[in-house]
Amino acid sequence: MMKKEYVVGVTGASGACYARRLLEVLCRDANVHLIVSDIAQQIATHEGVSFEGFNATVHPIDKMGASIASGSHRIDGMVVIPCSAKTLSAIATGYADNLITRTADVCLKEGRKCILVTRETPLSKIHLKNMLAAEDAGAMIMPACPAFYHHPKTIDDLVDMVVARVLDHLEVEHTLAQRWSGYDA
Ligand SMILES: Cc1cc2nc3c(=O)[nH]c(=O)nc-3n(C[C@H](O)[C@H](O)[C@H](O)COP(=O)(O)O)c2cc1C
Repeated sequence: MMKKEYVVGVTGASGACYARRLLEVLCRDANVHLIVSDIAQQIATHEGVSFEGFNATVHPIDKMGASIASGSHRIDGMVVIPCSAKTLSAIATGYADNLITRTADVCLKEGRKCILVTRETPLSKIHLKNMLAAEDAGAMIMPACPAFYHHPKTIDDLVDMVVARVLDHLEVEHTLAQRWSGYDA
């Protein structure tokens, strides 16, 4: 069976740990392209997270000639995790001036999965309008917003809860989080 192929874009919002966990799972069985914005790299360093050591193809953010910048290169989906409000605005308006926003733009025009794991609070009207515009264009807005009904005990549990939902929507099998099966289960 052909390996699935995904693009992971990491932008300058807090929560580099979400990207790292997603990469840990995705890189096991899929071909993964990784793009990290300059500010995302600074924040990851500050948050003590490294994106080294994954079996992924790493693209510089300004490498607009990369294969994934073209719709003719087929991929199975893209996730921007975490997705800053700035990158959300660029994707919502088609302002494709770097490899993350260009690849997201390509996903939307080609009708491919494009999941934006936003992290900002509170949300201004501008953020909310951009979310709606991106969703209207075919993106899925999936705020980094863990649930508590499985009684998480560690930060890793909370991270897994968010990443599990992303994997569900990429249709990637995982065992990161329990599934809700009712109060009496
Ligand atoms: C320490 C730090 C934390 C930040 N956290 C967030 C955040 O959680 N959400 C957000 O939308 N922007 C956040 N920002 C602002 C973005 O990094 C900034 O808007 C940047 O231009 C985003 O660029 P990029 O989307 O190209 O990575 C943060 C910036 C810094 C320095």
